[in-house]
Amino acid sequence: MKTQRLLVKNCIDDIADSREELSRLFYRELFHLDINLKKVLPGNTVFLNRKFFNMLAALQNVKYLENIAESVVKLGERHLVKYGAQIEHFDTLKQALLKALAEHLGDRFTPELQAAWNGVFDDVARVMKQAMTASDRRAEARPLYDESTYDPNLLDEIGGEAGVYRVHERFYDVMFNHPWLGQFFFGKSEEVLITKQTQFMVAAFNGPNHYTGDTPAFVHMHMFITDEMADLRERILREAILDEGLSESIAERWLKVDQSYRSAIVKKSIDECVLKCVGQVPVTAEKPLNYEA
Ligand code: HEM
Ligand code: HEM
Repeated sequence: MKTQRLLVKNCIDDIADSREELSRLFYRELFHLDINLKKVLPGNTVFLNRKFFNMLAALQNVKYLENIAESVVKLGERHLVKYGAQIEHFDTLKQALLKALAEHLGDRFTPELQAAWNGVFDDVARVMKQAMTASDRRAEARPLYDESTYDPNLLDEIGGEAGVYRVHERFYDVMFNHPWLGQFFFGKSEEVLITKQTQFMVAAFNGPNHYTGDTPAFVHMHMFITDEMADLRERILREAILDEGLSESIAERWLKVDQSYRSAIVKKSIDECVLKCVGQVPVTAEKPLNYEA
C-alpha cells in the first residue's frame, strides 16, 4: 500500500509541467460522463484547473494518510456541506481521472501505476465518503440543484444590474465603516467589492453571469465568520435594500437568494478555516467592547 502511495506521488511530481493538459483531459472526460457536474464544478479553465490541482495535491499527500486522516475527514465534510459534492460523484471522478491519465501517459501508464492510482484514490475517497455519511452537518448540505431560490422576475423588479449596484453601494458603505464587521474589509477596495458582489448576485438572480471570481466557500475559506456576524450582515443588507426604496417583499426575496450561500461561509469554530497558502492565518473580527447592535 505504501508503495502505491509513493508511485502516485512520484507520478504527480513527474507530470508537474503538464498538469494543465491533464486537467483539460480530465474535465473533458468528466463532463462527458456527467454533464450535470458542471453545476458542481462551474467556472472557466483557470478556476477548474485550480480545483483539479488541489485534488492532485491532496492525493500527493496521502503518504501518511493515517496521520492526516482528520484533515481528510474535514475535507469530506466541506465537500458535502459547501461544495455540493455527493457520494456517487466519486466514482465518476475516478473514472475520468484514470481515463485522462491513460491518455496523457500512454505506455507509461503501466498496469502497476493504474492499480496504484486506483488504490490511492479509493483510500482517500473512503475517508471522505465516511465523513460525508456520518457528518452531523448533513442537514446543512447545499442541495445540488436548488430551485427553491429560482425567482425569474426578481432582477427586473430590483431595477436590473444598476439597481443591484445601487443597493450594494449603500450596503458596503455601512459594512466598510462598521466597527465590528468592517475589520474584515481592512485594506480592501470598496469599489471592487461592490462590482464583484453585484456581478455575483446578478448571476444568482438568474441574470447574465459576468462573475469571474471564486465560489463563496473558497473566497471566505480563511475567514472565521460566525452565525451572529452573518445575522448582522443580513440586517445591514435588508436596510440597504429598503433605503434604496425597494419593497419589503423584494427584500425578503433578495435575502432568500443571499441566504442560500450562508452555510458555505459560516463556521462554528476557527478550526474550520482553511488556509490557502503557507503563512496565511485565519481572519476574524473582534466584537468591540460595549458594542450594541
Ligand atoms: C478523492 C477525491 C477528492 C479529493 C482528494 C478532493 C480534494 C479537493 C481539495 C483539496 C479541494 C480544495 C478545497 C478544500 O481544501 O476544501 C477541493 C475542492 C473542490 N472539490 Fe474536491 N476532491 C475530491 C473529490 C471531489 C468530488 C467527487 C467532487 C464532486 C464532483 C468534488 C468537488 C469539488 C469542488 C466543487 C471543489 C471547489 C470548492 C470551491 O472552490 O469552492 N471533489 N477538492
Ligand atoms: C458576515 C459575512 C461576510 C463577511 C464578513 C464577508 C467578507 C468578505 C470579504 C472581506 C471579502 C473580500 C475578500 C478578498 O478580497 O480577499 C469578501 C468577498 C466576497 N464576498 Fe463576502 N463576506 C460575507 C458574506 C458573504 C455572503 C453571504 C456572500 C454571498 C451571497 C458573499 C459574497 C462575496 C463575494 C462574491 C465576494 C467577492 C469575491 C472575489 O473577490 O472574487 N459574502 N467577503
